[in-house]
Amino acid sequence: MKILAVDTSCDESCAAIIDTEEWKLLADVVHSHVDSMKNFGGIVPEIASREHLKGLPLAIHEALETARLTPKSIDHYVVTNRPGLIGALLVGLSFTKSLAFSSQKPFSTLNHIEAHLFSPLLTTLEGHEAPPFPWIACVVSGGHTEIFHVESFFKYTWLGGTLDDAAGEAFDKVGKLLKLSYPAGPKIDKWVRESANDAHRTRYKFPRAKTESHTLSFSGLKTAVALQVKKSDLSNPDEVLAIAASAQEAILDALVGKLLETQKMLGVRNLVLNGGVACNSRLREKLPSAHFPIPKHCTDNAAMVALLAGYYAKHNRLTPEPWNTTAYPSLDTLALNTRGEK
Ligand code: KG4
Ligand code: ZN
Repeated sequence: MKILAVDTSCDESCAAIIDTEEWKLLADVVHSHVDSMKNFGGIVPEIASREHLKGLPLAIHEALETARLTPKSIDHYVVTNRPGLIGALLVGLSFTKSLAFSSQKPFSTLNHIEAHLFSPLLTTLEGHEAPPFPWIACVVSGGHTEIFHVESFFKYTWLGGTLDDAAGEAFDKVGKLLKLSYPAGPKIDKWVRESANDAHRTRYKFPRAKTESHTLSFSGLKTAVALQVKKSDLSNPDEVLAIAASAQEAILDALVGKLLETQKMLGVRNLVLNGGVACNSRLREKLPSAHFPIPKHCTDNAAMVALLAGYYAKHNRLTPEPWNTTAYPSLDTLALNTRGEK
């Protein structure tokens, strides 16, 4: 069975194709909109929707060309319909529905966070082993910081997440205060890795919020950085580097501390991370025994959606959905937690 998967939940138009018999990815295309957001210091939802109108048909066309397939030779169409920017999700859902409709093929929707959650299993498509269950899994991106206990493929529980900003959002907000362009996370990571030393990383002791089990908070850190920025001379690159490095340490220490605590509480050895922040090299250094997908599959992509659809198909759970199916901006943790009961 060949499944074409689409993801437009944020600012990347993504399309991928999986062959479930061969258990192989036939195409994996990502068209990023990041350049169109550069002047705005963050994602502008309306621009993301408009960019998907341009980027998604191109991404799907490229995926079909790469796989040497036509819309009619796809057996099932899949699209993420939650959570995300609602306008962006609606573009992906309408386009995918129309393709399925005109090719007279079934279509189904999947949850974007569930796709991130199982993306460490993408290695199985290249014939490699994946970390064995159970996992403590963390999806840590610009929009989410969610912690899960994964017992097996369809059995997992959402434990908690951030009470305010996501970790990636904290990176981006610190970057904005330091006048770095959006998205600041990768820039801070690279700059600190290449130029900072321990003295930079420890110059400012930004807060690591003490929150209840499985929860995190980054709003205090943002305020502390804003106050420091007011006192600092930002024309001095060494000072900017020290603030960036110290803020990165605070974000990552809070995250790592919380994940290690969760692992200990639940007695789970395998820790898997995913989402844009999981690309961070300092985070990877701080968690040497954790499992991280390759950076390309940490950030938004449709390969993870195609993989999840492939597992749903293998377990006879890829049920066709009605044409009036719609999209939702929220995560709906309740629906995620009861999936195992279906
Ligand atoms: O998963 P993603 O591509 O999109 C969603 O938010 O869904 O994540 C993007 C976020 C941005 O906030 C970006 O600054 C952050 O991930 N990010 C990083 C790194 N790469 C991306 N943060 C820290 N270090 C990185 N290397
Ligand atoms: Zn995402």
